[in-house]
Amino acid sequence: MPIRINGIEADLPGDPRVSLLDFLRETLDLHGTKKGCNQGACGACTVLVDGERILSCLALAVQYEGRSVTTIEGLTGDGGLHPLQQAFIEHDGLQCGYCTPGQICSALGLFAEVARGAPSGVTGDIAAVAVDLTGDELRERMSGNLCRCGAHNGIVAAIAQTYAAGRAA
Ligand code: FES
Ligand code: FES
Repeated sequence: MPIRINGIEADLPGDPRVSLLDFLRETLDLHGTKKGCNQGACGACTVLVDGERILSCLALAVQYEGRSVTTIEGLTGDGGLHPLQQAFIEHDGLQCGYCTPGQICSALGLFAEVARGAPSGVTGDIAAVAVDLTGDELRERMSGNLCRCGAHNGIVAAIAQTYAAGRAA
């Protein structure tokens, strides 16, 4: 069974040792997903699998047979940039941009986690069914995505605005 990347089916690599990150970048030429540390420490390689954020450098492509992967390239539709991409621009949530695709995919995964009430390390009541995305919650949940340029204030502002707009919609 093939894997779906941004809605398009692709054949899995023959070599089961190929990471999902290398498959995206080197086989499919989807260079938006970045390779930073290649060992699970920076978040630059974050993509969405069936809506959940994962680190593609730690994943083998063959693990995701039949699954649906979304990369940064898959977020821009006929209507233009995704609202979160636009918010990153408006809030100066980037400088060199290397961490940005991972930040954006991670934040979209974060929204889904909050929507289903998944607690984080700073959630007070882990039995609560609803999570309030406070500043502390947002920073904790994005702590796996590093930005060497120090654009974190803009990143947090962009994510918070997009989350608030989604709730208001
Ligand atoms: S490249 Fe995957 S976490 Fe750094
Ligand atoms: S914008 Fe340069 S690493 Fe984040």
